[in-house]
Amino acid sequence: MERDMEFLIPTKGILKSEELKKYILETTAYPREHEELKKLREATVEKFGNLSEMEVPVDEGHFLSMLLKMMNAKKTLELGVFTGYSLLATALALPEDGHITAIDIDKEFYEFGLEFIKNAGVDHKINFIESDGLQALDNMLAENPKPEFDFAFIDADKPNYANAYERLMKLVKVGGIIAFDNTLWFGFVAEEEESVPVHMRVNRKALMELNKQLASDPRIEVSQVSIGDGVTLCRRLM
Ligand SMILES: C[S@@+](CC[C@H](N)C(=O)[O-])C[C@H]1O[C@@H](n2cnc3c(N)ncnc32)[C@H](O)[C@@H]1O
Repeated sequence: MERDMEFLIPTKGILKSEELKKYILETTAYPREHEELKKLREATVEKFGNLSEMEVPVDEGHFLSMLLKMMNAKKTLELGVFTGYSLLATALALPEDGHITAIDIDKEFYEFGLEFIKNAGVDHKINFIESDGLQALDNMLAENPKPEFDFAFIDADKPNYANAYERLMKLVKVGGIIAFDNTLWFGFVAEEEESVPVHMRVNRKALMELNKQLASDPRIEVSQVSIGDGVTLCRRLM
């Protein structure tokens, strides 16, 4: 589980210039961050220290928010909630009658962030499921095999991204988007394996295989977005 990564997490993101990262955050991202997102981000750092690196960065939060609004997304799925930064950004972007199915194997993190989600007045849009991701997707497919989601954000259990993908191709509508987070994995996808910390190699390999697979899949249109730690957008064509 990602909690095991508490040790030795390199600085998040693919931008190798700390100055540029700081510039982007301070110029565009922080001034536009919703008050409750800011409070959640700061409280997560205080409570969980290093683990807070798991949250999507603020500029990626803006990106997801704008994408959801441009798509007029109403029904979304999120796999990998942690304390809820991307979840709250999504809930704020959806219309009043929007709905998010949020899945995480650990409810404690979500419960910590719930206070901020409630303060933002968007908790009614969220259905949280405490479960292993693939298990939850299988249950959904067994209950209702019709594609119903406009958008899915996948940010948990990297070695199983490819397995989640096949399930999501049945759950996300044609024309909808499946977004995978961390697909550039700290930039390690472009480095030799020997230079990658040992505990980060399994995810690196899985993500490199996924990136290759997505690039040649005729069922989707694909865009590798170089934001945060890399986000791959897959638009379902058939
Ligand atoms: C990178 S964090 C998610 C960060 C979140 N999107 C945010 O912006 O704060 C990954 C989360 O995935 C959860 N997780 C790890 N393995 C999982 C699995 N097999 N199924 C479901 N959730 C899992 C962890 O509990 C953790 O909360």
